[in-house]
Amino acid sequence: MLLRILGTAAGGGLPQWNCACPGCSGARRFPSRRRLHDGLAIHGARPDEWFLVNATPDIAEQLESHTSLRPAAGHDRTPVIHVVLTDAELDHTLGLLRLREAACIEVWCTQPVRAALDGRLHLSDVLLPYTELIWHDLPSVGAPTRIAGLDVNAVELSAKRPRYAAQNPSHPAWSVALRVHDPDSGGCLLYAPAVAAWSDHLAQELAAADCALLDGTFLDDHEPRRTGISSRTATGMGHLPILGPSGTSQRLAGANTRIYYTHVNNTNPLVDPDAAEHKQLADAGLAIAHDRMVVEL
Ligand code: MLT
Ligand code: MN
Ligand code: ZN
Repeated sequence: MLLRILGTAAGGGLPQWNCACPGCSGARRFPSRRRLHDGLAIHGARPDEWFLVNATPDIAEQLESHTSLRPAAGHDRTPVIHVVLTDAELDHTLGLLRLREAACIEVWCTQPVRAALDGRLHLSDVLLPYTELIWHDLPSVGAPTRIAGLDVNAVELSAKRPRYAAQNPSHPAWSVALRVHDPDSGGCLLYAPAVAAWSDHLAQELAAADCALLDGTFLDDHEPRRTGISSRTATGMGHLPILGPSGTSQRLAGANTRIYYTHVNNTNPLVDPDAAEHKQLADAGLAIAHDRMVVEL
């Protein structure tokens, strides 16, 4: 399988329109530091068969900027678009509205995610006059579902739900990782842009994957408070930090799995390529993903 990283930023992107923090200012000064919202396109064995992981507010530009994701030669239009969701957060789902020119949008997600998108955002109702929206359950137990020739499962991560769905009931599958397995190559990917808590289950899934893309929203637990974006800690916001006692890097150091951090917030000092902490991560065998990276598994 071929993984195209369409973006690596957390909600708001880099730079974020209303922000002049050092990270956003740096990205305005040096366009190479810009990051689009985090999402993937994954190809199976056939180059014209692929699916999206999450549909970000940047989705139309992300698709247009990759030649292999444009309508195939001989086709007037991309016929159907396949989207797999890890959660119902706005930065991962607003792009569904931008895909309304498709004849059909097929979406795979867990039950609470669908309930949020349909019950609170009324996505099916809103999109009905534009396109056909077909919902599929994304299994977290039992057999995987086959999408574009690849086997896809949800791995339940947490009950972290979007702020707009705070009244919805708690459920262990509000936020999931995706395990994508290629039956031809044997390659296995784990995609987890929101890790709210560490678990043995997640550790096992990480160890079993060849490559993992993980929550790198915040560098340390106090970053949201220090930078004034929230009164909560990173952990309190549902994102384990990279460094520190609750940090994921110490659990991941020396892992056999190739690991990249993604969903990087504009406040994260690592958006500066000269930040000293990059070396600390590299010494642990870890790195930050960048937009347009391609990984073959
Ligand atoms: C998150 O990743 O925690 C959310 O996307 C934050 C948000 O945009 O409200
Ligand atoms: Mn987010
Ligand atoms: Zn900023």
